[in-house]
Amino acid sequence: MTGTSCDCKLDSGTEVGFFNGTCSGQIAAQPEVGFSGLCLQDGPVGVRATDFASVFPAGVNAASTFDRDLIRARGLAMGEEFRGKGANIALGPMMNPYRAIQGGRSWEGFGGDPYLAGEAAYETIKGLQTPGKGVQAVAKHFIANEQERNRTTISSNVNDRTLHEVYLAPFLRSIQADVASVMCSYNQINGSWGCQNSALLNGVLKTELGFQGFVMSDWQAHMSGVGGALAGLDMSMPGEILIGMTTSYWGYNLTESVRNGSVPESRVDDMATRILGAHYLLEQEEGFPETNYNTFDLLDPLTNSHVNVQADHYKLIRKIGSASIVLLKNDNEALPLKSSLRDIALIGNGACPPQKGPNGFTYGGGVDGHLSMGWGSGTGAFPYLVSPLEAIQQRARENATTVNWVCDNWDNDTIATVATGPQAALVFISSDSGEEIAVVDGNYGDRNNISAWINGDVMVEAVASLNENTIVIVNSVGPILMPWINHPNITAVVWAGLLGQEAGNSLTDVLYGDYNPSGRLPYTIAKNWDDYAVPYINFQTTLEPAHPQDDYTEELLVDYRWFHANNITALYPFGFGLSYTAFEYSDLEVVEAAVSKRHLVEEGLHKRANTTEVGSSVAEWLHETRWSVEFDVTNTGSVNGCDVPLMFVTFPEAAGEPPRVLRGFERINLDPGATTRVSLPLSIYSLSIWDVVSQRWVKPEGEFEIIIAKHADDTQLTATL
Ligand code: BGC
Repeated sequence: MTGTSCDCKLDSGTEVGFFNGTCSGQIAAQPEVGFSGLCLQDGPVGVRATDFASVFPAGVNAASTFDRDLIRARGLAMGEEFRGKGANIALGPMMNPYRAIQGGRSWEGFGGDPYLAGEAAYETIKGLQTPGKGVQAVAKHFIANEQERNRTTISSNVNDRTLHEVYLAPFLRSIQADVASVMCSYNQINGSWGCQNSALLNGVLKTELGFQGFVMSDWQAHMSGVGGALAGLDMSMPGEILIGMTTSYWGYNLTESVRNGSVPESRVDDMATRILGAHYLLEQEEGFPETNYNTFDLLDPLTNSHVNVQADHYKLIRKIGSASIVLLKNDNEALPLKSSLRDIALIGNGACPPQKGPNGFTYGGGVDGHLSMGWGSGTGAFPYLVSPLEAIQQRARENATTVNWVCDNWDNDTIATVATGPQAALVFISSDSGEEIAVVDGNYGDRNNISAWINGDVMVEAVASLNENTIVIVNSVGPILMPWINHPNITAVVWAGLLGQEAGNSLTDVLYGDYNPSGRLPYTIAKNWDDYAVPYINFQTTLEPAHPQDDYTEELLVDYRWFHANNITALYPFGFGLSYTAFEYSDLEVVEAAVSKRHLVEEGLHKRANTTEVGSSVAEWLHETRWSVEFDVTNTGSVNGCDVPLMFVTFPEAAGEPPRVLRGFERINLDPGATTRVSLPLSIYSLSIWDVVSQRWVKPEGEFEIIIAKHADDTQLTATL
């Protein structure tokens, strides 16, 4: 599976080394056995570091739509673009949940709740791997890779129950979606490297979850030859031990390990079978486009044919962007903006086109204009970027609204002039983060603080002191503090996350009411930084100890669960989001579903078995619908809109679960006055805990409470089970 030399007779594939191919990672072709090789390319928002491809809204925005269809459509459109470029494997989705609130790459993933992250991972993979249209997907990074600082030395110390119930959840759903590959992470887990942790790779992933695809290492996360092979690693990326070196842990060395008996030949056959199995699963052996770009030299006429793969994906990107926007505050019906608006001010560089062009900061990070993704390998290459200034001006022209703006966050005089007088003043603030490959303003990937960047808070206060209709728009990688939130002149707050290339259009559609906001917060926004379960990353700056120890002491209490368990009131809870209309819920009923006899027998056998059977955690009986939670939703307002009812479950007290956990949601569209019946499934798995003694999912005895709510701190309807 690896090595830079080609004399590795036992290997079915050979990684060519980082700069020796044209993709982020590459497996050489082996024409003698009819294998055309593999091109692996980042990343989670589209085809990275190429040209004529789209940049989609970030993972965290996909999650904030709470819309399975849109998330799947996003995956499919991205899959089509990877395929069009001849990339066999898309290095995403990334699904590590928000834990430490400063975590630099959290924006690539799907928010703070394991169930939401699981649903988003499942749909993204199903979309990316659409037969005949898509490519192989990679669930990354396995596992407990929640901060950037010291990511290649740190040990994430997580107990077995927390690991299963929180961090494994999106990976379990990925395997249910038939994900081709899982990328093991840089960090150690409980003192053992992610890419040679046999308990997790052979044990949890390949046995409990029955994963039949292949495990690839993160770039240079491969730590040893024999150790990695025996622990369950199947592909070494990018091939060399350190980027630029010519030696590999595998390649010739793997051949040697088999010859000298350290690694059984069957293990190498297993690696090859898994890699080729994924290749066949996606039917890539015939008719798959040739790789037609060079990620390291886009101007090389020999290797880049500039294939345009964007199709009409911009329409979907615009729609997902709008669907992902969360309306946090809306007093005096400040929004939607009226077409009769006489004049409007746009304040802050977040309104304006980035000064270095749309791709000036993709690798290095930073903000000098509208922010629509973070930095690092999770970025894409913008074909264009519609800023709010451009989109709002277009709209203003139709309405004969006068527009004024200031793009310099430090120019206090102009800000004061522009803010004074207009009927609405829109202030744009942002907060950035990314991968530790770049340090921006002293931020090592992770955020040094969770406040708005570049004078943001000062700017908001200044505008609010001058304009009684101040509307704040936030483009951020994660939660920020909003010390000004209760200022009476701040009439509205729009949480826009990271919208991708159609940012200005998506936002304008929501601001003017062409798109009724329905996004929901995928994490909690706290009043104070210290309110979070893990307010700070592990920030060791010294070389001692060589392996910083990061204990996951909050255990199951991630995100809203911590706030509930500790009676801390959030500023805006997980799941929160306003609409231009209103919804009411009624008539809750829990209906038992029919169960096949076979599944009841399997359930019984599972309970009695005293070994972990392969795939036992994804067994059908465990995940099939056993109860339907049904209720009516009515649009009681005056315009059409989408609602997202959430289903939380409170476990019997003895189970030791958090006060409530998310177990279902559905996004529905309703005309004014219309009612629909929503039905949310519950399985044995949804009501189980990971029992560390018996090493299986166990549904605790006792009464469960089912809660239908608008957000994590809300209760609309309840039932017991
Ligand atoms: C990142 C991965 C990425 C890989 C290849 C690593 O630094 O952690 O997410 O896929 O580089 O670019």
